[in-house]
Amino acid sequence: MIVFATSDKGGTGRSVTSCNLGYRLSRRGRSIAYVDFDFGSPTAGAIFELGGFERGVPPDRAASGASIGKGLHSYLLGEISVPTRINVRDNTSRDDVRRLRGRGGQLVLFPGDESGGELRSGNDPEVIDRCARLLLSVEREFDICLVDLSGGRSTAMEMALNATATDALQSRTVRWLIFQRWTHQHILATCGLVHGAHGLLDRGQRAGHSREKLLESVRFVRTAIPRLDRSCGGPAPQAVWLHQQDRMLNALAGASRVGASSLLGTVPVEPILQWREQLILDVDVQKEIAEAGTVAAYDRLADALLDERIWRPLPGVLRPRS
Ligand SMILES: Nc1ncnc2c1ncn2[C@@H]1O[C@H](COP(=O)(O)OP(=O)(O)OP(=O)(O)O)[C@@H](O)[C@H]1O
Ligand SMILES: [Mg+2]
Repeated sequence: MIVFATSDKGGTGRSVTSCNLGYRLSRRGRSIAYVDFDFGSPTAGAIFELGGFERGVPPDRAASGASIGKGLHSYLLGEISVPTRINVRDNTSRDDVRRLRGRGGQLVLFPGDESGGELRSGNDPEVIDRCARLLLSVEREFDICLVDLSGGRSTAMEMALNATATDALQSRTVRWLIFQRWTHQHILATCGLVHGAHGLLDRGQRAGHSREKLLESVRFVRTAIPRLDRSCGGPAPQAVWLHQQDRMLNALAGASRVGASSLLGTVPVEPILQWREQLILDVDVQKEIAEAGTVAAYDRLADALLDERIWRPLPGVLRPRS
């Protein structure tokens, strides 16, 4: 299965949530490849705490025994034939993750290049071909290939749509997770990214996808949602206001075709993540540093990603407007 993670706006929690999702899935025994196509901002190395690779593969990094060469930018541009891969459990400086070595499925990062920058075009046939070959081989080797795409109507998204429209990948299971914060602007932006001109469906159709099928492979993830139950402990007018806003946002999301019927899951505000981008581990909850609700939310997301019932077409609800 190939899972693309994208968003219209930046700072939606796409990378942090995807890394945590990948980690939870790997703990369940699934082998996970995390492919960092967030070309402008490859941050997965920092979230997984891979010393030296916080911003992708540094330009001066000499090849070493850990198969460290160049990253995904160099691969897609044809400068290398095999991109660098880093086994997260073996190389992370997070002791509690290292201790899990040998337990669960493998978790492997394919990092971008530190100085890579955005791709110039998502329509270059050679880049598309390299991308398709990489996705196909990673999808064959791993249970789940999680791809973090640059935000917005990016060249990365265009390349991904073109690659998955090729014959080799058309038969594979491909899912799209669209990340957003739970605010007025984010809802409108998400609607634009999926349904708007030059958005996912538009570009997907131009790449050769069926608009309807593509939409069936899209689900939304809302991150950093304030806890309404807690706010009820605060001043009463504040609680009333927050509940009112939540209802209004739900109505707006429904009207914008990014509502509850196509929601994969939500992640509550996690205090740790407001300070630091990282994996949230069970041990963080046991130490009472992290909220139990955060880990539970990542687990529910992992369940939902694997639950075929959730990915069945929703008659009438998700149909694109003609
Ligand atoms: N559940 C959460 N609660 C609180 N903060 C969160 C949560 N999830 C993510 N964050 C924080 O939000 C910020 C943005 O997250 P992240 O970098 O994952 O977003 P992104 O969409 O990948 O951004 P970019 O567009 O820059 O790649 C980070 O500081 C992260 O720690
Ligand atoms: Mg990111």
